[in-house]
Amino acid sequence: MSFGEHVIHLNDGREMPLLGLGVYKATDDGELKQAISDAVSSGYRLIDTASFYKNEEGVGKGIQALDTPREDLFITTKIWNTAQRIGDIEDSFNRSLERLGLDYVDLYLIHWPVPGCFGNTWKVMEKLRTDGKVKSIGVSNFSIADLELLKTVSDVVPAVNQVEFHPLFNHPELKTYCEEKGIVLQAYAPLARGAYMNSPLMIEIGKNHQKTPAQVGLRWLVQQGIGVIPKSVHKERLEENSQIFDFVLSEEEMAAITAMDVQQRVAGVPEDMAPYIL
Ligand SMILES: NC(=O)c1ccc[n+]([C@@H]2O[C@H](COP(=O)([O-])OP(=O)(O)OC[C@H]3O[C@@H](n4cnc5c(N)ncnc54)[C@H](OP(=O)(O)O)[C@@H]3O)[C@@H](O)[C@H]2O)c1
Repeated sequence: MSFGEHVIHLNDGREMPLLGLGVYKATDDGELKQAISDAVSSGYRLIDTASFYKNEEGVGKGIQALDTPREDLFITTKIWNTAQRIGDIEDSFNRSLERLGLDYVDLYLIHWPVPGCFGNTWKVMEKLRTDGKVKSIGVSNFSIADLELLKTVSDVVPAVNQVEFHPLFNHPELKTYCEEKGIVLQAYAPLARGAYMNSPLMIEIGKNHQKTPAQVGLRWLVQQGIGVIPKSVHKERLEENSQIFDFVLSEEEMAAITAMDVQQRVAGVPEDMAPYIL
């Protein structure tokens, strides 16, 4: 197993690449296949999908077309809310696995903390891990309160909590909590879907390092030990987003970017979760 130089250690003894390719809204199989091939050529080893994205089959085809050995790839998928509500966890997982054309996934996440359901979902995920169909299990969009609740039903601490995290939407308390509990944070929408690309501060900091605002934002995250899964289907952007390990932001630059936080979510909260999250 080799995920390259830039990995983070998970609490279950495994490693996860710090950088990954997000594929939300990439639904055209041809485009996806090309993006996966370009990403892997640029050094990406992690691909982040979900049953909700309706592209697991395309991701599977993209993976199968690669020369890279399976054990050098890190594939994440997620269980959707409706499956949790009807208790269809194991079958839903098996369907994901089949669509992906894989024997196992590296990381299986609870996509959203559906109240009254996620404890049961977690117990089934523990079983999937014991069965070897999943290497690591984790959560997504979990608050400190959700993580505390999960602790009351299980001693298994999530390996990862994937949440929206970027210069315009920061979570200092959640970050401290996860560090204390040994939960790795992984940032989704790390580019804020483009929202900080014209920020004068990000442009100015970028000039100090001959980097773009996208690279500065991603660097700000990985320099804090937070994983990133930027999405792109363009070769030059995939390459740009991967060039984040050859420079270091100063303490002042890190603090200035942290101070950009305006609690601006760019990724929507699904309607069925809004009453619990917003
Ligand atoms: N767990 C969850 O609930 C959850 C929620 C949302 C997302 N996610 C995951 O996180 C991944 C990333 O989040 P996201 O896709 O919402 O947003 P993102 O990665 O912050 O932004 C993606 C957008 O930025 C553009 N882009 C990519 N590189 C760029 C660059 N260097 N400069 C300027 N624009 C650039 C992309 O366009 P092009 O593709 O046209 O290049 C795309 O429109 C998703 O794909 C998904 O895997 C998880």
